[in-house]
Amino acid sequence: MSALPDRFGRPLRNLRLSVTDRCNLRCQYCMPEEDYVWLPKADVLTFEETLQLVDVFCALGVDKVRLTGGEPLLRQELPVFVRMLADRPAIREIALTSNGVLLAEHAAALRAAGLQRITVSLDTLDRGTFQMLSRRDDLARVLAGIDAARAAGFTDLKLDTVVIDGINDAELPALVDFARGKGAEVRFIEYMDVGGATHWRMDRVVSRERMLQQLTAAFGPIRAIPRNDSAPAERFTLPDGTTFGVIASVTAPFCATCDRARLTADGMWFTCLYAKAGTDLRAALRGGASVAELTQLVATTWAARSDRGAEQRAAMPDRTPLAARDALRASPHLEMHTRGG
Ligand code: GTP
Ligand code: 5AD
Ligand code: SF4
Repeated sequence: MSALPDRFGRPLRNLRLSVTDRCNLRCQYCMPEEDYVWLPKADVLTFEETLQLVDVFCALGVDKVRLTGGEPLLRQELPVFVRMLADRPAIREIALTSNGVLLAEHAAALRAAGLQRITVSLDTLDRGTFQMLSRRDDLARVLAGIDAARAAGFTDLKLDTVVIDGINDAELPALVDFARGKGAEVRFIEYMDVGGATHWRMDRVVSRERMLQQLTAAFGPIRAIPRNDSAPAERFTLPDGTTFGVIASVTAPFCATCDRARLTADGMWFTCLYAKAGTDLRAALRGGASVAELTQLVATTWAARSDRGAEQRAAMPDRTPLAARDALRASPHLEMHTRGG
């Protein structure tokens, strides 16, 4: 199936499924508050309901699914769901984004179920910094999770690092060395003003330029790898051949090629990470819409899509966090841990 273009010609290819809004960490860039309003359990789609929606998206061109959260490994029986996805011929790739805490327990079962790729969030190699950043003392479990994933056969692991000034900005070379040692590729992400990032400030963002300067000082000249895909990361090579990525969502957004759809655990569909409102597919599904009606709803919504949230934010003169705490409490769908990182 050729993918459906939106108003800017961007195809619908990449579906990110948040399978739960719960998380077992409290990273400052994502969940800095003391408490949260969770999605009501009764609203969370069953695997069967989610698959009905997945099939609609696949019929319109989606061939890549990424499972996100919250922390997706908190969802009971996730390998069962992975197996159901793997049985669908239209899906070319199934990937998972995890904080790694529970990975040692689940990596082998996920592999056996047909999961192909894992990205683990790893912001620091220092136990104290990890504890300060995530408010949990779980670095050792994350590191064990990375090893378990490799041992289970996930050999092209990615490690995602959100870089924050004054917290982990001095650790970039150490993270490159660590990733190299694990046969993984690290990607450094500019700290974004999305969702629940209520402590975001422009002066805490470490720009791609600063990251590259630091890495050049540590390792020598860096070469950019030419690209022609829609992935958010630009990739680079060090003199010894080690590769790494940078996701410059703040200083150089990739909206022009964004092919992502995000479905929350309760069936709200967002066509942009920064979108204020989404389409309530749960209401349509539970209201008895036919496959043809659901397909029509998704197709017309995507065809009308003109989002370029990160580019619009980048053009703002005095940029402050996207949503204040009260707005997030009133509307938890605005949270990054609800719409998937
Ligand atoms: P693969 O292509 O499968 O490697 O995944 P990916 O490169 O798309 O990576 P992933 O989707 O895990 O995204 C990595 C990070 O990029 C996220 O955790 C976010 O910080 C950021 N990001 C992801 N999606 C978006 C998006 O739609 N807009 C912006 N501005 N940033 C995003
Ligand atoms: N800025 C950048 N990336 C973020 N993520 C969550 N919040 C932010 C933010 N404010 C991404 C990170 C994390 C994943 C789960 O979501 O990549 O690893
Ligand atoms: Fe951290 Fe991810 Fe949990 Fe957010 S969802 S608090 S980024 S581990």
